[in-house]
Parts: sequence; C-alpha cells; structure tokens
Amino acid sequence: MARSKTRHVCSQCGHEALAWTGKCPGCGEWNTLQQETHPAAGRGAGRRAAPSAAAAPRSVPLREVAAPEVARLETGIGELDRVLGGGIVPGSMVLLGGSPGIGKSTVGAMALGNLAAAGRRTLYVSGEESAAQIRLRAERLGERALDVPVIAETALADVLAAIEAERPEVCVIDSIQTLHADESAGAPGSVGQVREAAAALTGVAKRRGTAVILVGHVTKEGSLAGPRVLEHLVDCVLMFEGERERSYRTVRALKNRFGATSEVAVFEMRSGGLIEVTDPSARFVGEATAAPGSCVLCAMEGTRPLLVEVQALVAPTEIVPPRRIATGIDRNRLSLVIAVLARHGGVSLGSADVFVNVAGGVRIDEPGADVAVALALASAHRGEPLHRGEGPLACFGEIGLTGELRHVAHPERRVAEAVKFGLGPVIGPPAAEPIDALDPHKSIRDALRAASTGAVRRAA
Ligand code: TYD
Ligand code: MG
Repeated sequence: MARSKTRHVCSQCGHEALAWTGKCPGCGEWNTLQQETHPAAGRGAGRRAAPSAAAAPRSVPLREVAAPEVARLETGIGELDRVLGGGIVPGSMVLLGGSPGIGKSTVGAMALGNLAAAGRRTLYVSGEESAAQIRLRAERLGERALDVPVIAETALADVLAAIEAERPEVCVIDSIQTLHADESAGAPGSVGQVREAAAALTGVAKRRGTAVILVGHVTKEGSLAGPRVLEHLVDCVLMFEGERERSYRTVRALKNRFGATSEVAVFEMRSGGLIEVTDPSARFVGEATAAPGSCVLCAMEGTRPLLVEVQALVAPTEIVPPRRIATGIDRNRLSLVIAVLARHGGVSLGSADVFVNVAGGVRIDEPGADVAVALALASAHRGEPLHRGEGPLACFGEIGLTGELRHVAHPERRVAEAVKFGLGPVIGPPAAEPIDALDPHKSIRDALRAASTGAVRRAA
C-alpha cells in the first residue's frame, strides 16, 4: 500500500501527524503543525533482505576502544569555558540559545576573536546581519574580533561549501533558524529546514573536526524555537538568560556531553561587549538593601556558592484571587511558601498581592531558596527590616509541607560565602556536622522568630 508522502510536524514539540489539525495532539499548542514532504516515503521499507551474520558489525569491549585525549579549544572567556566543561571540544556541536538581544552574537564574536588571536582558524557565518553590521559590532569588541573571517550567507549548501573550503577549527552559525536547504520544503526556521541544516552541519563537523556553535532563538515561552530534535542532535546546549533591560546575564548548560550541567556563568553587558562577572556575590551583596522585605539568599549555582538578594512586596489587593508574581524563582515554590507561612508561620497573605523578585535578573532554580522567600515575605508583611548590625540577613534552606526546614546541598559552602562578605551568622536548617556561623533552626516558625527579633545566635 502506498504511504502518504506528506506529513505534518509540530514546530514546538516535533510531533508527527498525517493530517493537519489546529491543535497539536502532542503538546496542545495551536497552529504549530506544518506540512512537510516525506523524503522517499515508504520506498523499500519492509523489503530488506534478511541480515547475514557475516556482514554484521563486530562489537568491541569498551576497554579496547581507543579514546585519545583531545585538547580543548579555549574561548578565552573563562566563564564560558567553565560552563562548557573546560573549553570547546574539537568536532563538537554546541547550541547557544537565548532570546533576541541577549548577547548571543556578541559572545560568539568575542569567542572567535580570542580563538583567532590564539592562532586558531575560525569562521563566522551570519544569516541575520550583513558583513558590515557584524563589523560594526566587532569594532565595539576590539581588535581581536576584527580578525575573524566572516560570510553573510543563508543557503545551507553555500555554508557547507565554505566550511569545507576554509576548514575552520571553530565555526559560529548565527543563526540556525536563518539557514535554508533548497531540497527541503518549508520556510527558513521551520522544523524540516532546521533539522536538515543541523544534520548537515553535524556531518561536516564530525568529518572535518570543526566545532560548530549553533546560535538558536527561543520562543517567548523560553523553549528553543524549532523542534526539540535539535537538542538531541547537539553535544551541548547552552542557554543565555536574563532580561534585556538589565545588565546581568547568565549562561547555563542544559545538556553537556563533556561536562557538568550545573555550572552557571554570569556576565554583564557593557559598551565594550560582555564582561565576565567572576565574583557575582560581591555585586549582588553590594547592591542589597536592609529595607523591609529584603534578605540575602546563600544559593548554589552548580559547584559555586552565589549570594543574591531576594526582595518581596506585600500590598493590600483589590482583586480576587490576589496576585502572586515571582521573578527569578519558581511560581509553584512561591505558592508553597505562602501556604506554609499561613499554616505554620502565622503570616497570612490571603488578602494581599505578593511580589517576589531575585534582584539583578538572576534566576534561582533550587529549593534552597524557600527560607529566603519566606523571611522576605514575612518582613515585607510586617514592615520590619531583617538586618543585623549594618548588613542584611543571610539565609538558605528548603521548607517542607509541615513547616520544617530541610537540608539542602553544601551548607558549609553557603555559610562560608556569606561569612566572606561579613553576613554571618546565617539562618538555615540544622546541619549534620556543626558549622561555625550557622544559626540552625528546625522549623520556619523558629526561623521567623530568630529573624524578626534579631536574636540570631551563633552555633556552638
Ligand atoms: P547581540 O549579541 O546582537 O544579541 P543577540 O545576538 O542575542 O540577539 O547584542 C545584544 C545587545 O547588546 C544589543 O542590544 C546591543 C548590546 N551591546 C552592548 O551593550 N555592548 C556591546 O559591546 C555590544 C556588542 C552589544
Ligand atoms: Mg544576533
């Protein structure tokens, strides 16, 4: 029986359907199914000869597999190298995602500039901007960025030919959504086009040992535009986050075949490009206020402790249900903290609008932020500041549903970071081993009492 030659693929989740529907059966999004022509549909399928034992590939014990040590290509941007796990692996594919204007092109141009200065062959392929526009950016970034060879091209075949001809060691494709292959149907940026371009680039990357950095846009919901297949295809997915209006931006690894995914790099956008913020705690603590509704959270970003200011505002509401706005923390965790405060902390926010914000535009993705959110909310509700002496109050810990404070990873590093900035003693859950400068509390009620009276005692 002849199989249908066309199919409909969702541009959000990659779900394939035979017929077009307004709503994707895979992810429930509207108007995301796009028609695609199936290459050589059905031909030859099921008509293969029975496999012969002689032609079967032989397996090799892992011990005998040759695994040569490859030297990494350092981008010269220390924070970026750290997130990558020590630099770019030759022949690897890196996907750099982020919303427009966040600094993807800037970091790409800076990395290539540094690599070119270190004697590496580089290539910058731009489908978004003209060569003249790229030059204007490079001028802001300094001498090094001007040495990078550039082509402004959107035809996939031409880009592949350029890579074959120039044999760069590192190549930036800015962006994958602008490339188009003639053979594949659909507009640039559609599922078929993105998949085809990424697959062809992967082929050339592996064959020529070229490391390819694919720049990709994200949708307004925050996921990478185009199919999720892109994330499966590449070795490393980096996400550029932050708000365009603020100067701080973070780069975190969502997937990394050559390193940890917990590392986060902090950058600041200046007039001369992105500057690494190697000691972000100093910035955020310096900006922290000791006003009501503010406290300092000892967070962990991967293996690194990070002090950030958590701010809360509690105001009488005029609407039902009241507003719960969270910036930089998970909204569900905020709801949980509000519920626990009402039930176990004696702080009822049922008739108030609640806003919680992590200052500096940083996003904290760990349950260790709960206590800071709770203390900031209680302080905002009472209108009493949470400071001790000069500085703001520092804390960390997860809150359980019964109002208990729960252990989170690396309490000693969190406390040590706070002490470094003169913020000890730190309110937190009891630790397995006593930590100097930790003020341990078993429940949120105890922590609230300690924070509000300022009676923070030093652990024995
Ligand atoms: P860009 O890297 O073009 O963002 P993306 O490629 O992610 O869309 O740059 C983002 C913004 O940064 C842009 O609005 C201009 C600003 N910028 C600076 O503030 N300083 C600089 O040195 C450069 C190059 C850009
Ligand atoms: Mg760009």
